[in-house]
Amino acid sequence: MPNYPQLICTSDLLEDNHSLGFHHEQEKGIIVRYQGQVHAYLDSCPHRNKSLGDGPNFLDSDNLFLRCEHHQALFALDSGTCITGPCVQQQLTSVAVTEQDGQILLLGWPRQVNG
Ligand code: FES
Repeated sequence: MPNYPQLICTSDLLEDNHSLGFHHEQEKGIIVRYQGQVHAYLDSCPHRNKSLGDGPNFLDSDNLFLRCEHHQALFALDSGTCITGPCVQQQLTSVAVTEQDGQILLLGWPRQVNG
């Protein structure tokens, strides 16, 4: 069992309206900063459970939404809700993170239910 919290990166590496990918064991996540707040999601599109892309930036060209490169779904930065695309109204799975003392910390990992 992994121990938490785990350091993802230092806060200065994630500017507002930017994203970064990170690895956790064999899986991948994405952190994004929106209006100063850090949000994190599994890097798994609800449409076909694929990674959103190769990164390092997972945002659309205006840096307003997370974008899946496969079929162009767009997701709200602060909720992970798909606002347009083939999985509209579905959500990226949230990952628990916090920010303290200049560090972005992973607090746990969601248990994925397959099938
Ligand atoms: S796999 Fe992401 S939009 Fe289709």
